[in-house]
Amino acid sequence: MSAELALRGLVLGRGEVAVLAGVDLTVAPGEVVALVGPSGCGKSTLLDVAAGLVPPDAGEVRLDGGPAPDRPGRLALMPQGDSLLPWRTLADNVAVGARLAGVPDAAARAREAVTRYGLAGFEDHYPHALSGGMRQRAALARTALAGRPVWLLDEPFGALDALTRAELHAEVADVWARLRPTVLLVTHDPDEAAVLADRVLVSGPRPMGRLVEVAVPEARPRTPAARAAVREHVMDALRAQHAVGRTA
Ligand SMILES: Nc1ncnc2c1ncn2[C@@H]1O[C@H](COP(=O)(O)OP(=O)(O)OP(=O)(O)O)[C@@H](O)[C@H]1O
Ligand SMILES: [Mg+2]
Repeated sequence: MSAELALRGLVLGRGEVAVLAGVDLTVAPGEVVALVGPSGCGKSTLLDVAAGLVPPDAGEVRLDGGPAPDRPGRLALMPQGDSLLPWRTLADNVAVGARLAGVPDAAARAREAVTRYGLAGFEDHYPHALSGGMRQRAALARTALAGRPVWLLDEPFGALDALTRAELHAEVADVWARLRPTVLLVTHDPDEAAVLADRVLVSGPRPMGRLVEVAVPEARPRTPAARAAVREHVMDALRAQHAVGRTA
């Protein structure tokens, strides 16, 4: 179910502020690419443009070699922050993406996913009665269940404690190995990128322009030593990009 996602020469200003200044990136079918960069550099904006929610001033989003608007229903976006519907139960929230995508047995599959994502017993709770981490796990389950070939994930693990985050990383890596989605994962956390990504792209401060690539040598799951090495390379790239941003 994989697809290639290509962002070509994306430029976007918000009022007087340049946010995207010529961003190019490609995520190959089934590849997991992490995008790391400082707060405010334009990561969420880039995902909004990639998802077709915000038209760019210049450049284009392509899916499988064609313009993305000609290929509707191929992308799932998990936005930053809380995106559950407050008037729906947890189980209904998890099912909603699958229902919209016409997945058969959406309700039954949602109940299975609720258990897989560690939320059993909370099916009938409304979002206000769940913790931030639980809401985030539900949003991730919803994205997985929607069955789209390209996943755009904006800080999907940001609200989780360290132990839950590590458990969910392992769970999600299994899901990805099974479904092979094309994933663009925005994260603040170099270690998370080192655990989950096939490749890491590092942005400097706003406006986001040329991205520096950090290759990840080993297949998942990675040894602690391999993770530490990738983490250091990402940190070096962040420092170097920060220095370029200051002198630009
Ligand atoms: N709707 C909007 N209108 C005007 N400016 C905006 C809008 N959305 C974002 N911006 C500006 O665009 C810039 C990039 O914001 P964005 O949310 O993409 O950053 P980010 O890299 O996702 O940051 P964070 O890591 O904190 O989530 C910021 O300066 C922000 O103020
Ligand atoms: Mg953001």
